[in-house]
Amino acid sequence: MRVEEVAGNRYHLGDCVEGAREVLPDGSVDLIVTDPPYGIGGDRLHQHYNRDEAHVVEGYVEVPPEEYGEFTHAWVAEAARVLRPNGSIYVVSGYTNLYHVLDALRATDLREVNHIVWRYSFGVHTRRKFVSSHYHVLYYERPGPGRRTFNANVRFGPEERGPDGRSLDYADREDVWAIDREYKPGRRKNKNELPTELLVKMLQYSSDPGDMVCDMFLGGFGTARVAVGLARRFVGFEVSPPIFEAGVERMRGVREGDLLPDLRVPRGAGPGRTGQRWTPEETGLLVDRYGELRAEGMTKTRAVEVLGAEFDRGRFAITNVLKREGL
Ligand SMILES: C[S@@+](CC[C@H](N)C(=O)[O-])C[C@H]1O[C@@H](n2cnc3c(N)ncnc32)[C@H](O)[C@@H]1O
Repeated sequence: MRVEEVAGNRYHLGDCVEGAREVLPDGSVDLIVTDPPYGIGGDRLHQHYNRDEAHVVEGYVEVPPEEYGEFTHAWVAEAARVLRPNGSIYVVSGYTNLYHVLDALRATDLREVNHIVWRYSFGVHTRRKFVSSHYHVLYYERPGPGRRTFNANVRFGPEERGPDGRSLDYADREDVWAIDREYKPGRRKNKNELPTELLVKMLQYSSDPGDMVCDMFLGGFGTARVAVGLARRFVGFEVSPPIFEAGVERMRGVREGDLLPDLRVPRGAGPGRTGQRWTPEETGLLVDRYGELRAEGMTKTRAVEVLGAEFDRGRFAITNVLKREGL
């Protein structure tokens, strides 16, 4: 399998199942973010979008519908193997083959965390039915003895509110994500590229700088670009030679950490929250998170410690709220 290394990150040309078997040891990846071929004639997907085909990189490799189930089971099993315990995986899927993706995920020991609906407004135009305007994002974790990385408040502080008085953190963590597709006139692109904003959100919540991020289906190398831009390490696979060459070329121009200065800095998430009043939203988040930690088998004492760090509150404050909530 051919590998191109750019600034220490590895891009492999070839089938991701064979490739993962060959180059990725068990438990070697912290986070997988991937967008497999949809098995619905992806090589004709451009017909859905109003854009200039001259800028679209040719060579997208589709999977025949009759092979989709077997194909999905094979790559999902590999993804589950290479993910470390407590690592996370996000799989983007359309509706048509969602049942194959769910079936494959459920055949592994991975555990569902959320079913996210990604809503966008660049869908197919219809006259006699509703307009398709969403994808599914399946967010799973590999069970383990520790804690899954989930950087609560990495984007919005717990007290930050929008003009309508609603908590920005709460809104950002709802499981329907309204993020528009990017229209990039004049730039060479892969069919069906994921928006940077969507990828940044997954990586911010579910990984830290220096973590190893993997994409089994590189396509336009969007996940790679965002991972390197956020100073994560990266490994990935793409089976199509022209798409691979275009992507590697693109990665040569990406500087590690170049997206970091543009990230929004959450307000009020730093130290010194002791003594501040608990809002109903924050209390709700605390109760949910406590339930998750206990379900993972954590003792109450350890859970209170973890919650203290995550919510930036003292032990007594956490214990008091839990008591008040009957926990
Ligand atoms: C939906 S696209 C990925 C799009 C990507 N997320 C982006 O933002 O540009 C799926 C990609 O997987 C590639 N592919 C298809 N079968 C593959 C396989 N067995 N191994 C690796 N890549 C494959 C296709 O050529 C295509 O580029």
